[in-house]
Amino acid sequence: MAESENLIHAEQAALIARLQQESAALREELDETNQGVLALYAELDNQAVALREASDLKSRFLSYMSHEFRTPLGSILSITSLLSDELDGPLSPEQHRQVAFVSTAARELSDMVDDLLDLAKIEAGRISISPAWFDMFDLFSALRGMFRPIVDASAVDLIFEEPVGLPRLYTDDKKLAQILRNFISNSLKFTARGEVRVSARLEGTDRIRFAVSDTGIGIAAELHDDLFEDFSQIDSPLQKRLRGTGLGLSLCKRFAALLGGEVGMQSEPGVGSVFFVIIPLAIAAEVANEH
Ligand SMILES: Nc1ncnc2c1ncn2[C@@H]1O[C@H](COP(=O)(O)OP(=O)(O)OP(=O)(O)O)[C@@H](O)[C@H]1O
Ligand SMILES: [Mg+2]
Repeated sequence: MAESENLIHAEQAALIARLQQESAALREELDETNQGVLALYAELDNQAVALREASDLKSRFLSYMSHEFRTPLGSILSITSLLSDELDGPLSPEQHRQVAFVSTAARELSDMVDDLLDLAKIEAGRISISPAWFDMFDLFSALRGMFRPIVDASAVDLIFEEPVGLPRLYTDDKKLAQILRNFISNSLKFTARGEVRVSARLEGTDRIRFAVSDTGIGIAAELHDDLFEDFSQIDSPLQKRLRGTGLGLSLCKRFAALLGGEVGMQSEPGVGSVFFVIIPLAIAAEVANEH
């Protein structure tokens, strides 16, 4: 009896010893894993710092560069306008044409530089939102005026639907105009015939949806996802003839977010596209103050 009890004790002792050994081994393993995780965290932290520095550097480079480009571009633009106004003597028709080329190219470059500067400002969190009360009639007529020279020379109609029965908005009208301006200029670029239509309607009770629809070349479904990313442009015969940086839609998305809203699109190749932005009727105080 005593012998068998002893045997059991010995077995239990052996079991306990084995368990203790196993648990010690496990603890050691855990310690090692822990250290590994800590090392990984430290590495991640370092990488995050490096990434932040790289991104800051990129933003700073973009803003310095775009800023420095503006002055010479401004001189080119004012000198071409002096020339085309013939203040220093008359120009031949051919010279007029050439000066017009120079000024169009300089204006395009200047738009591009402005886009880059906006992007850099947004990335650095330095863009300011200045909301004010305004009427959609004013916004639409400003846009109509802006596009008149392009539309007059094109086979495409630009139609602004009357914004009847819509309340006044309290938001940053410049940012909203910038979003719509890019939607409209894209639609005009990618539409050979038919119309580009700009409309506004209430979305629920406290938001408004602006849409720009066109009867243009459209965009294949598999390309829809990346469209609002930086430098995203679609390869098409039309694209090759047109200028642009591919920053417009990405800026639209960021501006919409700044206004507390969002952008979206629907499109079918060969039929046309609709680009829209939905924003609050009145920008929330905290969104306005954040920036
Ligand atoms: N209405 C549209 N119809 C067809 N394709 C479009 C339309 N709008 C945009 N796209 C496609 O999306 C791309 C990105 O547009 P985005 O406005 O970002 O750049 P961009 O117009 O090429 O250049 P940027 O606006 O910077 O001058 C365009 O190059 C074009 O391929
Ligand atoms: Mg564009």
